[in-house]
Amino acid sequence: MTATLITGIAELVTNDSSWSAAGQAPDVARLGIVTDAAVLVEAGEVVWVGPASAAPQADSRVDVGGCAVMPGFVDSHTHLVFAGDRAAEFAARMAGTAYDGGGIATTVAATRGATDDELRTLLAARIAELRRQGTTTVEIKSGYGLSVEDELRLLRLAREVTPHVTFLGAHVVPAEYAADRAAYLDLVTGPMLAAVVAQGAATYVDVFCEPLSAHAFTEDEARVILRAGRAAGLAVRVHGNQLGPGPGVRLACELGAVSVDHCTYLSDADVAALAETGTVATLLPGVEFSTRHPYPDARRLLDAGVAVALATDCNPGTCYTSSMPFVIALAVRELRMTPAEALYAATAGSARTLGLRGRIAVGEPADLTVLDAPSYLHLAYRPGVPLASTLKV
Ligand code: NIG
Ligand code: FE
Repeated sequence: MTATLITGIAELVTNDSSWSAAGQAPDVARLGIVTDAAVLVEAGEVVWVGPASAAPQADSRVDVGGCAVMPGFVDSHTHLVFAGDRAAEFAARMAGTAYDGGGIATTVAATRGATDDELRTLLAARIAELRRQGTTTVEIKSGYGLSVEDELRLLRLAREVTPHVTFLGAHVVPAEYAADRAAYLDLVTGPMLAAVVAQGAATYVDVFCEPLSAHAFTEDEARVILRAGRAAGLAVRVHGNQLGPGPGVRLACELGAVSVDHCTYLSDADVAALAETGTVATLLPGVEFSTRHPYPDARRLLDAGVAVALATDCNPGTCYTSSMPFVIALAVRELRMTPAEALYAATAGSARTLGLRGRIAVGEPADLTVLDAPSYLHLAYRPGVPLASTLKV
């Protein structure tokens, strides 16, 4: 087994606060920064971390030449398996048309019409795209199949590229069930869920809970679906409070969801419930960028002690970016998160929702991202510049 020493790290962000220094603000202390650092990697695992001056011997070395290194970005919310795009819908939205979820039907039709190999090729290109921008871990949802066969197909394709897969049969009610929503609910909670579980096709169940969209699901419908998923052994994630105030966050907290995503419109009771239950609030500011909704109030959540994560929501409708650096820059500029809070939320914060730690420490997977800059601060300081990439060891 060969051990590789990564050297030349001007600044190493570990997310391990045992490396914090006296006098640091809490958000920076939590990043566990080591300057002039080295990391030893063996068999894909971190086996030593510390100052370069104390580094052990190794079989080989990778010198990153004064760059910053950090835990790989964790994109904990994506919809990467789809065909077609909705550029025209985006253009209409920029001209004033509101988003209501109706466009999802366009993507469902294109996705159903694509072969497995076509979808596999599209998915591989998207995965390569997000890796080039520093993402090492990705969650993928189904939701553009909306039949037993097509949902399973999307979950299988997702599973080929990541272990973090979410069943979103309740994305919207498909056109063929528009006149009988109850029948679609029966399908999702009956044969569709049974097939997902029988094939071990997903770890999570998710619902687009948004009473303001005629296409998405009400509180009562979402509760039935999420309870069924949970009873079948799936952990719960929720799309909630995206288009306006609503029941999604409350429901997620009630059901012990690992994460409730969007959180754009929150009541005081929602914030209190998140703080009390520990359900993570996953913010997706690329969506507000692409739909012209107001940005979520991250400060209100952080100041209340809510655990916050950041992800892209990469999908052809509300946010077609695969760039976690873009999301981090938005979080700093528009959500008023500090650069340290934003990086933590995009790594350890999102990792937590997938049962991972998102830190660089002994025994952790060597999922590392390198920045072509001396400090993590450059992520938000130099928006749009392709500085981040995954570090292959
Ligand atoms: O997370 N809100 C629901 N689902 C996606 C959008 C999907 C689409 O419009 O294709 C989201 O924003
Ligand atoms: Fe989404």
